[in-house]
Amino acid sequence: MRLKNLTFIIILIISGELYAEESKGMCTSPPLIKHGVIISSTVDTYENGSSVEYRCFDHHFLEGSREAYCLDGMWTTPPLCLEPCTLSFTEMEKNNLLLKWDFDNRPHILHGEYIEFICRGDTYPAELYITGSILRMQCDRGQLKYPRCIPRQSTLSYQEPLRT
Ligand SMILES: *[C@@H]1O[C@H](CO)[C@@H](O)[C@H](O)[C@H]1NC(C)=O
Repeated sequence: MRLKNLTFIIILIISGELYAEESKGMCTSPPLIKHGVIISSTVDTYENGSSVEYRCFDHHFLEGSREAYCLDGMWTTPPLCLEPCTLSFTEMEKNNLLLKWDFDNRPHILHGEYIEFICRGDTYPAELYITGSILRMQCDRGQLKYPRCIPRQSTLSYQEPLRT
């Protein structure tokens, strides 16, 4: 009777340790990301070394690794999904800008993509001493800077005080 109980207890301890050994390095739910989703089917616990795959929403730029791994109970860094830029015709008008290329007239400019402007009519770039690439802007995480074109007249009156 006594021996039987002891055996039972020992079995309990051993199976407990086996369970602890097995759950060592396991992970719970993987990290969620902004502007994207996990496309692998999700479970409650993940074994050491297992992975999940992410996908960004449409027109978003995936930076980093597409997959995150469960390593010793911790998830590796999931990817970032960087937002696209949208072209503002109000901003363009305000800054006397036109698109240089017709194909840039599209609803989404992806992160990292360039867009090139030209000055409207009788205007030219406000930053006089930089040439060439000044009207070429890069979409940076949903932010697009607009260069400024100014009428010839206001540039001359701005320059005059510098000469005296
Ligand atoms: C998890 O996996 C890594 C890489 O395969 C290994 O080095 C590590 O010892 C494992 N950890 C556990 C707790 O099993």
